[in-house]
Amino acid sequence: MLKYVIHGGKSLNGKVMISGAKNAAVGILPATLLVKGVCRIENVPDISDIRLLLQILDEMGASIRRLSPGTLEIDCTHVRDAVAPAELVRRIRASYYLIGAQLGRFGHAIVALPGGCNFGPRPIDQHIKGFEAIGAEVELSGGNVIARAPETGLQGARVNLDVVSVGATMNIMIGAVLANGTTWIENAAKEPHIVDLANFLNAMGAKVSGAGTDVIRIRGVKSLHGGSYSIIPDQIEAGTYMAAAAAVGGDVLVQNVIPKHMESITAKLREMGARITEYEDAIRVVRSGKLRRANVKTLPYPGFPTDMQSQVAVCMALAKGTSIITEGIYDTRFRYCAELNRMGARIQVDTKVAVIDGVEQLHGCVVKACDLRAGAAMVIAGLAADGTTTVEDVHFIERGYECMIEKLRELGADITRIETPEPERSRVAG
Ligand code: EPU
Repeated sequence: MLKYVIHGGKSLNGKVMISGAKNAAVGILPATLLVKGVCRIENVPDISDIRLLLQILDEMGASIRRLSPGTLEIDCTHVRDAVAPAELVRRIRASYYLIGAQLGRFGHAIVALPGGCNFGPRPIDQHIKGFEAIGAEVELSGGNVIARAPETGLQGARVNLDVVSVGATMNIMIGAVLANGTTWIENAAKEPHIVDLANFLNAMGAKVSGAGTDVIRIRGVKSLHGGSYSIIPDQIEAGTYMAAAAAVGGDVLVQNVIPKHMESITAKLREMGARITEYEDAIRVVRSGKLRRANVKTLPYPGFPTDMQSQVAVCMALAKGTSIITEGIYDTRFRYCAELNRMGARIQVDTKVAVIDGVEQLHGCVVKACDLRAGAAMVIAGLAADGTTTVEDVHFIERGYECMIEKLRELGADITRIETPEPERSRVAG
């Protein structure tokens, strides 16, 4: 059992260095399966989702070398035509990218249906629609996605997504890179990690254009070659530290960021009264007075990210007045509000809308991380609260935040990570 214990009430001051983007890395690593040659990848975050993906690639026969913290060499030239290990695949949402990667590399794929954070149904019908459009036959059987390309190979086509999906856009891109002819993804997602995946593929010899707009064109190539690539900084990790500075108070310089990617978050925190200065690759957040109320609706990029919803909710819980959050991506992503209310927040949730009445102070208690971003929000709330907050189930947080404890301590936080053995009862219950 893993938990964080926080003694709150200390302002955050100093510098924090942002790691490579999780949601870019989880697409790029599976995409190395398409490459015959060595991919040198820098700025790979050391988080549990990435460690799991590396284990999956390793079991499939990839040769992986860590050159330095954050820099890996991955060579999939001799990867066997293997089934991805189901027990590992089920533990991570992004393992769906193995479908596109195996299909592209071997012409067939068997991948267990992916797991990941639970905030309602997370279908993959748009991924399947894309693979079928480029000629694959796809069936769901025995908890697996089974996809087969025709003997003549995958054939480029137009795919019009019914919903703007990050995962489907990236997966179809991966699947189509080695197809015959040209594929267009219409109504594509535009998140920074979509552009990052396209840039990675192009660095290895692919011909992808339009990433970052809503039409992406992928001209199929015969093969990809090795090369070097550096992953972009994590937009959500940066936003999390910005929200932490705003909620807790202090003066924080968030370094290694692309300020353009942060615009919707910067604008919202400014509206709430944080003083924000943008530099070429850093953002300074200063908050001294009381925060002001605001409303936010989560939307696909460049809108306000759903992955920042819970962190900004903590700011709103401590702001003057009543704020409203409307969740525009998922059916339900407000489970953490009950935990925040245990700390003294006043939040009412009705399906996709949360109404937050700001309070003067949150109070430490024992809370749970319901998922990755909800867990980050609990940490921010604990830092802002008086007394002691214990955040349980923090393995969720460690899926996506590199060295969060160390980074927060550098900023002056009093936070400790405590690992205790599982109680006998739950081990037996399994
Ligand atoms: N959707 C469908 N069908 C599909 C795919 C998606 O209906 O085939 C729906 C989803 O149910 C959702 C919406 O479309 O309502 C958007 O889902 P999307 O596919 O964009 O999400 P995802 O690929 O499953 C990624 C990130 C999430 C992030 C979302 C939205 C990864 C591994 N995950 O998920 O990140 O919330 O995009 O930006 O990249 C996180 O990092 O904490 C996280 C959950």
